[in-house]
Amino acid sequence: MTLGKLAGKVAIISGSGRGIGRALAIKLAAEGARIVVNDLDEVPAQEVVDAIRAGGGDAVACVGNVTDTDFGERFVGTALERFGGLDIIVNNAGYTRDGVIQKQTDEQFQAMMDVHVTAPFRILRAAAEHFRVASKQEAAEGREVIRKVVNISSMAGTHGNAGQVNYSSAKAALVGMTKTMSKEWGRLKVCVNCVAFGFIETRLTKPREDPSTRIEIDGEVIQAGVPAEMLGALRSMVPLGRAGTAEEAAGGVYLLCSPESDYISGQVLIVGGGVSL
Ligand SMILES: NC(=O)c1ccc[n+]([C@@H]2O[C@H](COP(=O)([O-])OP(=O)(O)OC[C@H]3O[C@@H](n4cnc5c(N)ncnc54)[C@H](O)[C@@H]3O)[C@@H](O)[C@H]2O)c1
Repeated sequence: MTLGKLAGKVAIISGSGRGIGRALAIKLAAEGARIVVNDLDEVPAQEVVDAIRAGGGDAVACVGNVTDTDFGERFVGTALERFGGLDIIVNNAGYTRDGVIQKQTDEQFQAMMDVHVTAPFRILRAAAEHFRVASKQEAAEGREVIRKVVNISSMAGTHGNAGQVNYSSAKAALVGMTKTMSKEWGRLKVCVNCVAFGFIETRLTKPREDPSTRIEIDGEVIQAGVPAEMLGALRSMVPLGRAGTAEEAAGGVYLLCSPESDYISGQVLIVGGGVSL
């Protein structure tokens, strides 16, 4: 087994085929965790699994849309069946589907709720029984094992962002879910926290002309990305003077997965290069 701060731990990370989730999967694996990699798209998910294995770690893919009603059970089940446990859950999968309120359809609004709120809810609910049984057994053995949940939010959720009423509402709901679950699951020794990113360089923040910003979800092509003329303004709002990298963003999530954060729960950590609006 690889030695590291997360040796022996099992982590499931939704949307870890690309971007921040991918960087996090590689980081947690480098610290010794075994990883269940999820993505909508099989090729990038398998590529991350292969990269982790090539680095001496252990990972398996669980491909699929987090909004599928049975996905939570399948995701948690993969960790339990393949690795015999579950210690870290990161609800990271997501995308944007922007528009000013008068142009947003019900379906556009609901899509953000489905992927950013309902899917994390179902994943956490699917893990509840395992957490209950494991914590009860560990308590009977006189051991305290701290498990971790990190929900990925956005500064659009904590501070608002014009053109993102659907996305920001959903990301704000994740803050409420985090705070409630930290209270429900403290007795199970599960720390539940939230990371809200500012401006991180991934395909979601590329100029809309970039072909990678057209994302296919269940056969429908969605336009993500940021209007090119806004990128300079966004960058100039960051005290550190630049967007964060996926690796820097993953570093913020890693802090809340590491043993150093074992007494931190119910918090929202802003990873935004110093932005505070
Ligand atoms: N990039 C930023 O500046 C930024 C800022 C705030 C919050 N976020 C959040 O960070 C998270 C990661 O985003 P990213 O920037 O790395 O984007 P990304 O597009 O690079 O990576 C997200 C991954 O999630 C997958 N995914 C999307 N919807 C999915 C679904 N329904 N089921 C399974 N997989 C799905 C995608 O296929 C993709 O591989 C998202 O929740 C996003 O909202 C990003």
